[in-house]
Amino acid sequence: MPESADLNALAKDICACQRCGLYKTATRAVPGEGNPHAQIMFIGEGPGFNEDQTGRPFYGAAGNFLTQLITSIGLKREDVYITNIVKHRPPGNRDPLPEEIEACKPWLDRQLEIIKPKVIVTLGRYSMARFFPGVTISRIHGQSQKCGEYTCFAMYHPAAALHQGSLRATIEADVLKLPKILEDIKKREQPTPVPIPAKPPPQEARQLNLFGF
Ligand code: URA
Repeated sequence: MPESADLNALAKDICACQRCGLYKTATRAVPGEGNPHAQIMFIGEGPGFNEDQTGRPFYGAAGNFLTQLITSIGLKREDVYITNIVKHRPPGNRDPLPEEIEACKPWLDRQLEIIKPKVIVTLGRYSMARFFPGVTISRIHGQSQKCGEYTCFAMYHPAAALHQGSLRATIEADVLKLPKILEDIKKREQPTPVPIPAKPPPQEARQLNLFGF
């Protein structure tokens, strides 16, 4: 499985990354995890406390909610790929800085190249800004849009539901749109069948028809 080997090699490089200062305060890097052939890739903001301790993305309270959302569309965490815009925890869970996001960009680019997901789900503002620049999440959440070769789908960050309970139902409703989006992409990707020309009638029959029978 070359994608899996490529992702493992990439994870090693990410763990040794010193492109920005975040590695100095983080316990470990959190490269991402999931199916190397995932059709859906979830991209969050950056590791928090639990992720920094375990090296696994979305592993705390927000992660539990993300797992529930994934289950609600009939999938398991192992079916999708989960990663973040920055791979080391910003100290005290502060927002990632533009230069940290920029420094980390090649890692996400490479993950996308290897996995080639059919749908990228952005979780929260920072991830959204990478694929939907200049928009607000309140306007575009729950909508998909073509971004180059990918279809991107913006969602509120699962942690938003933990801080603002009223967003929970919105997030739960948004994620339910994913199966149809995926199905539509697959339909569009199916080659259009070439019509098979009708078989001409046998020679004898054609001659008879010339005489009007
Ligand atoms: N929040 C994120 O954006 N990513 C994680 O991995 C955990 C919490």
